[in-house]
Amino acid sequence: MCGIVAAAASKNIVPVLVEGLKRLEYRGYDSAGLAVISAAGIERVRSVGRVAELETASASTRSVTGIAHTRWATHGVPSERNAHPHVSGSIAVVHNGIIENYESLRNELSARGHVFTSDTDTESIAHLIEATLQTAPDLFAAVRLACRRLVGAYAIAVIDHQQPGKVIVAREGSPLLLGLSDTGNYAASDASALLQVTRNMVYLENGDIAELTAAGVKITRLDGTPVDRPVHVSQLSAAAVELGNYQHYMQKEIFEQPEALANTLEIVGGSKTIQPGIFGAEAANLLADVDAILILACGTSSHSGYTARYWLEAIAGVPCNVEIASEYRYRTSVPNPKQLIVAISQSGETADTLAALRHAKRLGQNKTLALCNVPESAIVRECVLRFITRAGPEIGVASTKAFTTQLAALFLLTLVMAKVKQKLGPAQESAYIDQLRHLPVAVNKVLELESDIKVWAQRFADKHHALFLGRGRHYPIALEGALKLKEISYIHAEAYPAGELKHGPLALVDADMPVISIAPNDQLLDKLKSNLKEVQARGGELYVFADADSEIAASEGVHVLRLPEHYGELSPILHVVPLQLLSYHVALVKGTDVDKPRNLAKSVTVE
Ligand code: F6R
Repeated sequence: MCGIVAAAASKNIVPVLVEGLKRLEYRGYDSAGLAVISAAGIERVRSVGRVAELETASASTRSVTGIAHTRWATHGVPSERNAHPHVSGSIAVVHNGIIENYESLRNELSARGHVFTSDTDTESIAHLIEATLQTAPDLFAAVRLACRRLVGAYAIAVIDHQQPGKVIVAREGSPLLLGLSDTGNYAASDASALLQVTRNMVYLENGDIAELTAAGVKITRLDGTPVDRPVHVSQLSAAAVELGNYQHYMQKEIFEQPEALANTLEIVGGSKTIQPGIFGAEAANLLADVDAILILACGTSSHSGYTARYWLEAIAGVPCNVEIASEYRYRTSVPNPKQLIVAISQSGETADTLAALRHAKRLGQNKTLALCNVPESAIVRECVLRFITRAGPEIGVASTKAFTTQLAALFLLTLVMAKVKQKLGPAQESAYIDQLRHLPVAVNKVLELESDIKVWAQRFADKHHALFLGRGRHYPIALEGALKLKEISYIHAEAYPAGELKHGPLALVDADMPVISIAPNDQLLDKLKSNLKEVQARGGELYVFADADSEIAASEGVHVLRLPEHYGELSPILHVVPLQLLSYHVALVKGTDVDKPRNLAKSVTVE
């Protein structure tokens, strides 16, 4: 949700700002803008659409100090007047987050003569800082005092042409880090934007404010107390955020899954057993006292949670519930202090998941586990236990490798819980670990189905609706398949547990409604086959993802693709892969913007 880049250096920083925005474009892409300090004052360039447009529009701009932004609209339509930076007097501001008290600030400042020119919440920050600067000793003090009046979430970067050569940044609730180098100092919403200039990163904490100049950085808390934050040398490889030979990030990330799984599972090493310690030093004691699990997540991450519920109850015998974070945080629920709260999030910054976690803790549920792909994220920092999936940066808006690595991590959690609850003998444990270790190879083989899936994709291009069916632990995989298809191809898709079909959705089935079915060779296959017959009898066209040994034959109106091997409990991790490929290729046929689907953005840091 919106990306920020800022720079104070001894060389022209406009190319750095633009390149940084390109890296952050996955966070929002409806408009972009930058502001720099020039001899004449603030020079601002804004454009609706992609960063490429801004690059052209700012081709002749030069400066050593500036701020830049790529937007995902919250307040006000995507338009040039609503694009950041917002300006008040000599001040320009970019912002990621939502200011909840912006209306009262706007009323107050309008009454004092400030003229607003946009519909955004951000503009009130610019005016507030300008007003505060009238009595504050300098820009740093003005931003610090102004931030204390803001309610909501923000990461901001501010420049003032009266005080050239410096950028002030601050964060509360939205991500922001600094990049330090000999030739200048930088800030951005994530490290990928700054790898072009440095690997030395400083993660700001909520309530931190920093002043950047070409010569150095100063960090304090909002009350003015100086703080030291450690410098991390980013291990992120530049290649990890490059497209390489791929056409899209989503395609790259689908094909990176074998490696992402291998990296995530490296923690198990060559061992035949698995220890609670992989979730943190306190895990053994904490998990011993757990009598239930509550998983909180949104979107794709919630689908990994739903899958894990089948594993946790069947293998570990632990009662498990999964709740959509935005629902849980606002409903009156019955807390259980012995319940393990598992927050699952690729970004670790999703506002609803973070708020649901905090809500769970406020209810006295303090046994918390973060399962995230971003180690320094807010959700990781706020949990007692943690497991970092090692999917690498996920840039395509549609989540793929983050999902399969979450599943692998949740299976590890299942094995640990099963051991803690003495439900897992050594032979079974070692067999599961062997299966996990073989996963990257198994996923690689599934990826070889791509050419057949491309042929199927052609048949979906003119469809307006699709139905996904699964049973048991593959029902959440049907949910994930439907989500992928709708978000990148804009085809309306619904997922149902196959047994529910006759309770309503069967009425939708006709020759125009493709029905995609996940049909692994498990104990529910015969039941599923009866459900598929019901579809066939109504003239529905079936697309079945079966296993090599699933007894389902292709026939008129029944298309079957077989995954190379049956994978038992871990089968959901294999079966989601062809669904990712299907939606990717349908989107290609339809010509949609695969990596940046309309209306969406990655890292939903607003409610
Ligand atoms: C779908 C997708 C979203 C995210 C959701 C949660 O492809 O990416 O549904 O899964 O916004 O995001 P995280 O996992 O970052 O909390």
